[in-house]
Amino acid sequence: MNIAVEKVTSSKINEVDFDNLAFGSVFSDHMLECTYKNGAWETPKIVPYQPITLDPSSKIFHYGQSIFEGMKAYKDKDGGVWLFRPLENQKRLNISAKRMAIPELPEEYFMEGLTSLLQVDKNWIPENDGSSLYIRPFMFASGNGFHASPADEYKFIIATAPSGAYFSGKVRVLIEEKYSRSANGGVGFAKAGGNYAGQFYPTQLAKAKGYQQVIWTDDNTHEYIEEAGAMNIFVRINDTLITGPTSDRILDGITRKSILDIAADEGIKAEVRKISVAEVVAAAKSGELKEMFGAGTAAVVSPISGFGHQGTDYDLPELENSYAMQLKKRITDIQYNRAEDKFGWRYRV
Ligand code: PLP
Ligand code: COI
Repeated sequence: MNIAVEKVTSSKINEVDFDNLAFGSVFSDHMLECTYKNGAWETPKIVPYQPITLDPSSKIFHYGQSIFEGMKAYKDKDGGVWLFRPLENQKRLNISAKRMAIPELPEEYFMEGLTSLLQVDKNWIPENDGSSLYIRPFMFASGNGFHASPADEYKFIIATAPSGAYFSGKVRVLIEEKYSRSANGGVGFAKAGGNYAGQFYPTQLAKAKGYQQVIWTDDNTHEYIEEAGAMNIFVRINDTLITGPTSDRILDGITRKSILDIAADEGIKAEVRKISVAEVVAAAKSGELKEMFGAGTAAVVSPISGFGHQGTDYDLPELENSYAMQLKKRITDIQYNRAEDKFGWRYRV
């Protein structure tokens, strides 16, 4: 594929403090852009990072046909650039696209587009430990008209942002009992923009009470733990690690499934089964709840220091040798090319 590259005339890179990176708030020099028109995706091109002009009737504004992915590019100590299981993101983007009636993108457009963009903006991939280039591929309805039906034009864009940690301090979570993130038959498994918009209000309420994230429970009974706003959830009761099963209400996280494979390899007993709120609360009261952590691309492995439920706060112990830290080390050592990749997850750019 011949991807045209229009380079910036002057780079912004010297304006960036790579030692103090927030998450996703400064953007690299270029972006990939691809248009769907007349029934087909056109060849992607690389252009300077810039605003997008849209008609006020673009369907994205009215009907929310919008999906995204989250990935990272990692630089090793020799300057090698790596992605982590990128084909999983490519496949999931198309799973989300299908559910939101957005045309699917051919695999080579995604992979060749992404690798070309990373080659152009290679200098933007941070070298400091714990930082990476966060990659945000997204797709939305750019076609016009107030008719409530799928658009006939779409954009696929990849923007990147050198980033540090997603959470700045300890993570406390609120187990939600009133609001729901998703429902059976809905779009919870898709990485659709609206899934996040719908969480913002309940999360604001939780933040006002001192929690960083909401842990969603099943919409039907609110008795079972599903996932958090930006990450899948694991709990450790005694020596067993447990995460809920995926369903059409939950995002099938790539970090989650990698952690399950690593746990098996490390000899950690792990179960994929429904986790009831009652079980977690009882284990917290008896001291058997040893850990809770979130897993996701942005969150990596984020230990949870405590949770709130029905007006009561529960603290988790600070363990010396936590599963969270053991698993985080294994997965980041693979991502940053610091250790053997026995699963074949690393992808050289
Ligand atoms: N759940 C939600 C709602 C997310 O937004 C994310 C982040 O992408 C995850 C889970 C974790 O998924 P992954 O590990 O593929 O990044
Ligand atoms: C990611 O982890 O990549 C995500 O997309 C989560 C996002 C809400 C920051």
